Amino acid sequence: MRSPSDTVSKILVSEEKLQDRVAELANQIQSNFKNSDLIVVGLLTGTIIFLADLIRKIDLPLRLDFIGVSSYRNGTESSKLVFTKELKIDVRDQDVLIVDDILDTGKTLKSVIDKIKAMHPRKISTCVLLSKKTRREYNIPADYIGFEIPNEFVVGYGLDYAEEYRNLPFIGALNN
Ligand code: IMP
Ligand code: MG
Repeated sequence: MRSPSDTVSKILVSEEKLQDRVAELANQIQSNFKNSDLIVVGLLTGTIIFLADLIRKIDLPLRLDFIGVSSYRNGTESSKLVFTKELKIDVRDQDVLIVDDILDTGKTLKSVIDKIKAMHPRKISTCVLLSKKTRREYNIPADYIGFEIPNEFVVGYGLDYAEEYRNLPFIGALNN
């Protein structure tokens, strides 16, 4: 039987490293948002596994919402952004923490920040599990970054290639 781990050439971030780092990020977030009503906004779909692990380690009252945004259509090349789900919670005057799987060119996060800014939150912070610094085209400040990674297309732990591989428990690079 074909298994998703067969087509992944190497493990970039192991399951154990992911869990340790996610706990560190959760601790930082917890101490920085102690006195605020936090709204966590996850970007669908790549964030869900990271987000599920992260918020269970944050011992604060928080609300969770999602924005659907899609930039990669069936491959590794970025294309036009499409919003597929809007926020349900009113973020006006609230502290918003945007969580994304990976900061690549910065196009996705920039457009989501602009969109949420227009809703007049008190403050916007950003958290990404992965960052490919060398690929950046937009100057996006990420307040919390899990791992800086080299310029390789990665999958697993929520990240996909053509919608597959999200269920791998680690971050791996694809066999080309
Ligand atoms: P950006 O708009 O160029 O910053 O791209 C961000 C989005 O592209 C992320 O939310 C991911 O969905 C996707 N993406 C970028 N790099 C990768 C990768 O290496 N693997 C999987 N998805 C990626
Ligand atoms: Mg994504």
